[in-house]
Amino acid sequence: IENCKGNDLLTLKDYHADTLSALLNLSQKLKTDTKQGIAKQYLQGKTLGMMFEKPSTRTRCSFETGIYQLGGMGMFLSKNDLQLSRKEPIKDTARVLSSYLDGIVVRTFEHSKIEKFAQYSSVPVINGLTDTFHPCQVMADLLTIKEQFRTLKGLKLTYLGDGNNMTNSLLIGCVKMGMEITVASPTEYLPTYEIVKLAKEEADKTGGKVTITDDPDQALKNSHIITTDVWVSMGEGESSKSNKLKAFKPYQLNKEAICKADKDVVVLHCLPAHRGEEITDEVLEGKQSRVFQQAENRLHAQKGIMVALMG
Ligand code: CP
Ligand code: NVA
Repeated sequence: IENCKGNDLLTLKDYHADTLSALLNLSQKLKTDTKQGIAKQYLQGKTLGMMFEKPSTRTRCSFETGIYQLGGMGMFLSKNDLQLSRKEPIKDTARVLSSYLDGIVVRTFEHSKIEKFAQYSSVPVINGLTDTFHPCQVMADLLTIKEQFRTLKGLKLTYLGDGNNMTNSLLIGCVKMGMEITVASPTEYLPTYEIVKLAKEEADKTGGKVTITDDPDQALKNSHIITTDVWVSMGEGESSKSNKLKAFKPYQLNKEAICKADKDVVVLHCLPAHRGEEITDEVLEGKQSRVFQQAENRLHAQKGIMVALMG
């Protein structure tokens, strides 16, 4: 973890599998220490900026609470309140903000925007979601899976639905941990060729496995974890919605899907969920669901990330 100090976290692909494992262990320790009331304030006096160009419930509140618990403070920066909204360039914003702050979380649209921000920032930049990646969410997901199964290697995760930022980060995160990941989407909504290729190359190194299919039944077979995400993501035109609703219907995470998986399967969802679309209320509230543990784990996973990068 020592070697993470000062780094950005824009995507999990930049991190070695051993580092991700160490990060998960650190997050687990911070969680246990916090619950036992013996947590140390590793980031005393540090300030975390949080620049959001899209709405957020979990990411914003877990980072703000996390930095406070670590002895620092969070500063929420909505795009509308910054001169960025009056066309101040990213490269100026990044240089100025990083001269005050010790770390910055950015949630934005194009991934190239956060890359540019990071290029001009002198302090660690953490991806709080872009159109292409959502790495902090997947670290919380991996933490949740590890708590459930004690190990990650060899487990099979099935993702049903839209090939989006969550799919991309899951593909990379899971194979880095030696897991098997199967993505089932309608052909026109599969993850991109570049991401799949990258994940397959990683899988060759770790013993993981990547399968991309349009057949949900096949994808669910022997699955230990089933997950999904909204069919229409933030920033996507609502016009695509009616086409998508139709195309995605066979990929709903419902009771039938659970029956096709391993008998000890657990269900994850990064939230917010649209009950009746990508997941049913019954499954989200059912006994296989770990979604609220997963949401809580955003806090613990991100505390690990902040300590490693900003400590
Ligand atoms: N899962 C997630 O990132 O949620 P928010 O959009 O509420 O931050
Ligand atoms: N794919 C979703 C994830 C929300 C946390 C979106 O980008 O809106």
